Amino acid sequence: SGAAGARVFTLGIRPGETRFKDGPPTRTWGVNGTYLGPTIRARRGERVELTVRNGLDQETSLHWHGMHLPAAVDGGPHQPVPAGGVWRPRWTIDQPAATLWYHPHVHGATADHTYRGVTGLFIVDDENADALNLPSEYGVDDVPMIVQDRAFDGDNQFEQRVPLGGSLGVIGDEILVNGTIGPYFDVTTRLVRLRLLNGSNARLYNFGFSDDRSFSLIATDGGLLAEPWETTRLHLSPGERAEVVVAFRPGERVELRSYPSDHGGSLGRLDGFDDRLDICRFRAAGTLADDTELPAVLAALPDLAGEAVAEERSFVLASDRINGRPMAMDRIDFGVRGGTVEVWEVTNDNGYPHNFHVHDVRFQVLSVDDEPPGPHLRGRKDTVLLPPGRRYRLAMRFGDHTDPNVPYMYHCHLLRHEDEGMMGQFVVL
Ligand code: C2O
Ligand code: CU
Ligand code: CU
Repeated sequence: SGAAGARVFTLGIRPGETRFKDGPPTRTWGVNGTYLGPTIRARRGERVELTVRNGLDQETSLHWHGMHLPAAVDGGPHQPVPAGGVWRPRWTIDQPAATLWYHPHVHGATADHTYRGVTGLFIVDDENADALNLPSEYGVDDVPMIVQDRAFDGDNQFEQRVPLGGSLGVIGDEILVNGTIGPYFDVTTRLVRLRLLNGSNARLYNFGFSDDRSFSLIATDGGLLAEPWETTRLHLSPGERAEVVVAFRPGERVELRSYPSDHGGSLGRLDGFDDRLDICRFRAAGTLADDTELPAVLAALPDLAGEAVAEERSFVLASDRINGRPMAMDRIDFGVRGGTVEVWEVTNDNGYPHNFHVHDVRFQVLSVDDEPPGPHLRGRKDTVLLPPGRRYRLAMRFGDHTDPNVPYMYHCHLLRHEDEGMMGQFVVL
């Protein structure tokens, strides 16, 4: 029973066993099940009330990645849920329609807890998106795809060992979509929207179709783009999301794949940059329903480039540190003023990739090495890939959830790097 009109969700994190392949089952963790968790869905303006029960024998947490919300309910390392404990975060959804997600964020063990399977989507809806007549029937023409790589040992257990020489973290050779190896999807409509989440700990995907067909990117982490962008390839680094719309013809078969990436820098085969992976097979029916259209204009995105900048900050990511310092739970790195716009310059000073995620806000990429960003970076983001040596300028407006004591995080979302200290904390004042 919640406040009038509130949306109430109960999430139980617990251990279990999941059968991914022939042979013994895999020991996994899940939310209300043995692997992954339910898709949570709420509308802008709605109040959400969640009950999170930790059924594990160790402390964990649940972070709402991409959500604008008070720091005290963010679910980061400062809101651990003890073994057997219950946590009841609540807030009002106040951001545009977008595909968000949740995962553990407990200090030093985010990679392990997430890898075991505690991950789900959190979809935000709003009136603007409703009015567009986009494919939106969940599971029919609006399809969530949590893409993860996993390595299995000889007993079918998840292998978390980092390959010799691997700098990124664990790279698996089996691809799971929504917890299934070798999945297919039966297409019944001409246009299908895929909500892609790179839910991997470290692997970078370069998505594309086996016949090189183009598809339309309509939304990134923070919500809809101003207009669709047609492409044949799309990179997603860990934690990033994309909504794409693909057109199918009756009766056809096509495979969604990941293609080799040129973002590996000094890293070679061990880190998966040469891999070509089959992700999901699409099988179109003999006749396809045809009642949605892709609009030419999707959303009005205010341009932060012209705004007065309250503060510029610079962040250099190198070797498990940001600006030379490892994460410390009791050190708040800085405070920002609620309602102001800041510009953060973020540089990858290593010969291999990182990415950069900021809690609570959605940022605009102003430039990449002083050039305007490509079309895939023109929407709002909360996580961005940082190829080796690259320098990004990000503009963001901080919200009104002030709290001098409880920080938000910013960090590399390659989870091994995050756990090893490539993270910092800020408060909104
Ligand atoms: Cu997806 Cu700080 O996390
Ligand atoms: Cu986050
Ligand atoms: Cu990193």
